[in-house]
Amino acid sequence: METLPAATTALPVGTDLAAAARAVLAANWRGRHTVPSARLYPHQWSWDSAFVAIGLAHVDQHRAQLELATLFGAQWRDGRVPHIVFDPDTPADAYFPGPRFWAPGAPVLPRRATSGIVQPPVHAQATWEIYRRAGDRAAAADFLRRMYEPLCAWHDYLLTARDLGGAGLAAIVHPWESGMDNHPAWDEAVAAICAAGATVPTARADLHHVPATQRPGDADYAAYIDLATRYRDRGYSDVDLLPGHGFVVEDPLFNAVLAWSEEALARIAAVVGANSCWHTERATALGAALTERLFDDDLGLFVPRDVRTDRRVPVPGVAGLVPLLAPGVPADAAVRTRAHLDGPGFAGALLPTLDRTSPDYDPQRYWRGPSWANTTWLVIRGLRRHRDYARAEALRQGLLDAVRAEGFREYYDADTGTGAGTTEFSWTAALVLDLLA
Ligand code: SER
Repeated sequence: METLPAATTALPVGTDLAAAARAVLAANWRGRHTVPSARLYPHQWSWDSAFVAIGLAHVDQHRAQLELATLFGAQWRDGRVPHIVFDPDTPADAYFPGPRFWAPGAPVLPRRATSGIVQPPVHAQATWEIYRRAGDRAAAADFLRRMYEPLCAWHDYLLTARDLGGAGLAAIVHPWESGMDNHPAWDEAVAAICAAGATVPTARADLHHVPATQRPGDADYAAYIDLATRYRDRGYSDVDLLPGHGFVVEDPLFNAVLAWSEEALARIAAVVGANSCWHTERATALGAALTERLFDDDLGLFVPRDVRTDRRVPVPGVAGLVPLLAPGVPADAAVRTRAHLDGPGFAGALLPTLDRTSPDYDPQRYWRGPSWANTTWLVIRGLRRHRDYARAEALRQGLLDAVRAEGFREYYDADTGTGAGTTEFSWTAALVLDLLA
């Protein structure tokens, strides 16, 4: 077993933060894509790559373009963008569940081996950010032309095959699709799947790299593998997935990011000479559906909706703040949402993933409390959209201070700022580059 990360990996005093961030991204670059981290996540991940591209857009336009082009090179015919694209040069057992799990019996696919689930669609926004900052304008315009149809197909997949609730929102069918794997909002579904007999996998590779107290528990993994196996065994088809599938959820972060990216697609359409109105309308409709379906009036915050029971899951998490990004969210809902940043649940230098007053709050365990760079960054962008520059700046400073003190960690203890999870984490480095720009 490897040595687990040291408790702290502080950057030496006087370190040039941007140079250190670039060095992390250079070390994690694999020629056509960036790994999220060298050992814990040794392949290409979908939303990680989008965040990485947003950071690279400031320092290396061509690498940023290649990052997304590589990911979309593995897009499925139905439009879905898989959450993992496996690196054929990485040993199959370096990550669990690896390529053979997702494509059983297949000799690792002829083109690229991938998983069959998705992650939040940050990609159109990332594509737009690359174009916006590009020095090589001709290459950037060409890149937009090449990405436009694949991005449309991606969003079309989410808004047709995945509109399992029939209300104009995309549903996720696995906790990994939320990006926030073991968030307490999924506990009830996970418990039901375990009660139905899901068994704990023995092949977890993650625990070789990060202390178990900072990772999802065994019950979570039992549910993850059970759900993925069932989805795989039906050929990853979304048709008639309800009511048998154990996890069908409309998530506020996922749909807010989709609305925001749809808005970016409108901008991209205008540049490539396509119809941008259609995207603007779809983005606004998404924001309205998001508010109607997911805004919880009692909490004054967005929460997930369980499509199987047609009920909201009243767990206050950071995903509930991310709709500040989306177009079409009414001002009163936005004001109530922003007010949480001054309350006991979310106030402070670091933004937790779960309301601190929740009984399930655990400031070190993956998505059950720690502060992450990407969710903080999404909320900063949302606050700026609402011209709430003071709160946005406070979060920006809080995150940069944690990185200076502890290095480019995967996440940070939301109360003490102590680094947790793996080290030299790509999206932390990439988003720091954006926050410093
Ligand atoms: N986040 C998952 C993991 O921990 C996969 O997407 O492996």
